[in-house]
Amino acid sequence: MSIMEKHKKLERNITLLGVGAFITVAIGGIVEIAPLFWIDNTIEKVEGVRPYTPLELAGRDIYVREGCYVCHSQMIRPFRDEVERYGHYSLAAESMYDHPFQWGSKRTGPDLARVGGRYSDAWHVEHLKDPRSVVPESIMPKYGFLAETDLHVPDIAADLRTQRMVGVPYTEKDVEMAEKDLHAQANPDADAGDLTTRYPKAVQRDYDGDPKRITEMDALVAYLQMLGTLVDVNSAAAQEELATEKGR
Ligand code: HEC
Repeated sequence: MSIMEKHKKLERNITLLGVGAFITVAIGGIVEIAPLFWIDNTIEKVEGVRPYTPLELAGRDIYVREGCYVCHSQMIRPFRDEVERYGHYSLAAESMYDHPFQWGSKRTGPDLARVGGRYSDAWHVEHLKDPRSVVPESIMPKYGFLAETDLHVPDIAADLRTQRMVGVPYTEKDVEMAEKDLHAQANPDADAGDLTTRYPKAVQRDYDGDPKRITEMDALVAYLQMLGTLVDVNSAAAQEELATEKGR
């Protein structure tokens, strides 16, 4: 019987075809899924990546609430035009503590993955209040109300615990200090304790230019100003990690 003949037999017997198709798909499934049970993590660790401070996390929640991701991505693709415009392409580890991740699917405005430190706090505040006052051709909506709204986070410790449930390594101390950390980071006169030890590169300052109170603007600007600043992509260690990322 030629191979064509054999195949004809398989094609014309629905049970045989069903069993054959099942075995083929099962092998493919096992090859893809089984290795995942033996590796701890699919993301390579990169020096500098840390969980968000309570203030940054609160700012991130505002970012999600306001739907900034509808117009902005946070994922620089490894293409020359993107890298020249936005900076080093994004590493998987840089969004490993993002739940949900903010890669986005469309850019009406620019990518924000490395916007941290590119502008002053005052620029961000001005831009968020009235985008056209700094970028005349902008079509971004105004978010001035953020500067008028006191930051209200009902239970930041619970937020940290929830993040921990999905794998963000907040320590017991982080959870315990969450409420204090939240307020201390936005107030340069407050005693921040060991905030910057637990959260390296966290910056304690008045972000919204109104030192009298802590507003949603403080939290959002704190979040924007840290985006992409944790990993020193030009350091020797990072270059080494990148080489292994590329080699995979
Ligand atoms: C309707 C689409 C739209 C929405 C929604 C939107 N933006 Fe924008 N955004 C833009 C556009 C377009 C630009 C480019 C022009 C400009 O700078 O205003 C921009 C620019 C920016 C920039 C400057 C980026 C750079 O590298 O120059 C930041 C920061 C920013 N947006 C933050 C936000 C935040 C935070 C939110 C949510 C509170 C938000 N945007 C919501 C469209 C949008």
